[in-house]
Amino acid sequence: MKDKLRTAFIERFSSNPVFYASAGRINLIGEHTDYNGGFVFPGAIDKYIMTAININGTDKVRLYSVDMNQYTEFGLREEDKPAEQWACYVFGVCREVIKRGFEVKGFDAVFAGDVPLGAGLSSSAALESCFAYALNDLFNDNKISIFELALIGQSTEHNYCGVNCGIMDQFASVFGKKDCLMRLDCRSLEFKYFPFKPVGYKLVLVNSQVKHELVDSPYNKRRESCERVAKTLGVETLRDADMSMLEAAKAQISDEDYKRAVYVIGEKQRVLDVCEALEKGDYETVGQRMYETHHGLSKDYEVSCEELDFLNDVAKECGVTGSRIMGGGFGGCTINLVKEDLYDTFVQTAKTKFNEKYGIEPIIIDVVISDGAHKVE
Ligand code: GLA
Repeated sequence: MKDKLRTAFIERFSSNPVFYASAGRINLIGEHTDYNGGFVFPGAIDKYIMTAININGTDKVRLYSVDMNQYTEFGLREEDKPAEQWACYVFGVCREVIKRGFEVKGFDAVFAGDVPLGAGLSSSAALESCFAYALNDLFNDNKISIFELALIGQSTEHNYCGVNCGIMDQFASVFGKKDCLMRLDCRSLEFKYFPFKPVGYKLVLVNSQVKHELVDSPYNKRRESCERVAKTLGVETLRDADMSMLEAAKAQISDEDYKRAVYVIGEKQRVLDVCEALEKGDYETVGQRMYETHHGLSKDYEVSCEELDFLNDVAKECGVTGSRIMGGGFGGCTINLVKEDLYDTFVQTAKTKFNEKYGIEPIIIDVVISDGAHKVE
């Protein structure tokens, strides 16, 4: 990828760039909990967005997406927001850096990636983190803290891309560490690395190829439901709620909001259960919780779709240890914890059955837990 980017950069801008990359992410468990102040358990993966970039001495950004073969230019003032959605991620990062009192000047950049788009692997967070990391190094002597880089990505989503997301994706993209998952407490923002090399098991993603787009999806509505329930219960976020509080207030809460809250409250405990089980090497419990999460996301939170439910059923029928929809939902992948000796059968069965039913083979992605944002030497 680096050579491809270098060639594209030199052809277009005739100078020598430097390279930065940031990663997509998986999440073992803890879905839709981040914006509820709960726990998440993600890790960065070996799928990256990379940029070749150089300062250009002007007040303009000149930006080329290799994968889309599209070019645009924009200034760095608020009113210079580009028309192209893909460029808004980079523009937003520039603006969020500037708003925090740090420096950004004109630069030239080309970028490309192998994080599948719309698959729930956070290609947008990878893009934001890649540029936030680059601007910190190029213009600010790395004075912006790594955590702030994640927040810059999140604010970009909120203020320039229309997704009222939590912090998980950007956090995972910048803090990811090879062979480690991270348990993040999204309220205190404390986190802990968990070495993750399950003996005798593999983590595999099955991409339904149903494109998920969080912009204009009911994602923001889910968040509003949670905030409404928290307000009714008189707590800051659903992190502070339990089932007895929810039951006591049931009459004041709509049926739909009630179901959303049931899921979130249950998920908080499931993440903690999984962390405990992992420390004991108890993968059966990890797997059970994953199935429970899927059930909740499908029936109570209602962010699944027919294809993902089908893949979950196939996993169950094959005897896969754990399986669930991953990420924001409405399409994308299931994440599966599979015993190594079952792996081939499961992958083959999932491909065949899905193809029989939907006329398309799902894409199998083996998970390799990797480093997050970095300068590429
Ligand atoms: C998307 C958001 C995250 C998180 C997940 C669901 O990926 O960007 O902040 O809410 O959905 O867990």
